[in-house]
Amino acid sequence: MNSISGHEVVFRGFNIATMDPNSAEIKCELSGEPLGGLTQQLEYGTLNGTAIGVEGGKIKWLALERELDRNGLTFAQTVNGEGKLLTPGLIDCHSHLVFGGNRASEWERRLNGCSYEEIAKQGGGILSTVSATRAATEEELFQAASKRIKSLLAEGVTTIEIKSGYGLDLDSELKMLRVANRLGSEFPVSVEATLLAAHAVAPEFQGNPDGFIQHVCDSIIPQSAESCSAVDAFCETIAFNLAQTERVFERAKQFGLNIKVHAEQLSHTGAAALAANMGAISADHLEFLSDHDCATLGRHGTVATLLPGAFYCLNEKQKPPISALRENQVPIAIATDSNPGSSPVLSLLLMGNMACNLFGLTPCEAVAGMTINAAKALQLDQTIGSITKGKQADFATWHVHSPAELVYSIGGNPSAGVYKLGERTQF
Ligand code: NIG
Ligand code: FE
Repeated sequence: MNSISGHEVVFRGFNIATMDPNSAEIKCELSGEPLGGLTQQLEYGTLNGTAIGVEGGKIKWLALERELDRNGLTFAQTVNGEGKLLTPGLIDCHSHLVFGGNRASEWERRLNGCSYEEIAKQGGGILSTVSATRAATEEELFQAASKRIKSLLAEGVTTIEIKSGYGLDLDSELKMLRVANRLGSEFPVSVEATLLAAHAVAPEFQGNPDGFIQHVCDSIIPQSAESCSAVDAFCETIAFNLAQTERVFERAKQFGLNIKVHAEQLSHTGAAALAANMGAISADHLEFLSDHDCATLGRHGTVATLLPGAFYCLNEKQKPPISALRENQVPIAIATDSNPGSSPVLSLLLMGNMACNLFGLTPCEAVAGMTINAAKALQLDQTIGSITKGKQADFATWHVHSPAELVYSIGGNPSAGVYKLGERTQF
């Protein structure tokens, strides 16, 4: 018995890259035959001649178009792709999209030879954005972030993770989290808000990082727990050490929050392995990750989120250990890290291109990094990240034929329309 009722919105005529690792097992809802057949490219889970039935915002079934026609079925609405590509909606699993001001002047200083670390030690860097973010009203932060999110949505993003971390006091961190969550209610995008209070030592605690971490654990985490789904920390010589990072994660776990980490970006601290051992859903940056750390991530199923925008903008030389990540079957995600300092980036597709050209990912790994593996990095892979029966009908459609073309060209947005929960987005 099939579950086709006729009330569905049907997407047909698309070349579908399901990004479903089990796509070989997908069967036609009507005939029961495998949908991929002999022409299937398993890596992208490509399906041709297949229709998607959507009802209640979810993928209700997948079926061969010729079987639908043979049975003379009609539907509430049909979206005809006319040969365009359809992928899962893109997922930006690491961003700092809400902030005040910008840091173009610091970028100019870096071009003149001053390093990111030197600027941070002189009180610039993250702390300069903290001053601008504290000074901005909630509405100002929302309006500025709205402009930025529109660029990402226009390029197919349907889910985004947004971190706090430029407030560093309770009220300002809560202000940032409210803005992040409001973006999710006013735009056709799901927002996962992450508390990143342990981003830098707050000015009020200058010279007393342990005191600040105590405050984060005693006050900021407990009072933010209802406004976020995860807690992140920046473990680095210019930020927090391993013991401080561990305290933050222990506290987060007491509130049932997921943990994620900014790790091994500028030096090796051991934070990625620490976080993986504590059950982190992702470890992010990872240029200085060791082969041994890769085994730890692989053992725990922690996603390695690579941020080529920060690598590129900071003119880094050390690259993440892609071969060891592959050998240990660590899922690799790609994200914008959109922020005013290390990665003023508003294109996820460009990050896919950079992940290929700078880090040596295959185009398929890059597309998986913005879909199914990005969903894993947010622990949302049961509901989004692939074209799979039962998942949300979050689709990106494209004026290209093959998925590799999404990360092959630079600029010239190839989007042909985005669907959130089955509905065409407008913003
Ligand atoms: O992901 N590494 C730490 N945090 C951000 C940058 C923050 C900033 O420079 O404002 C990052 O790169
Ligand atoms: Fe970041």
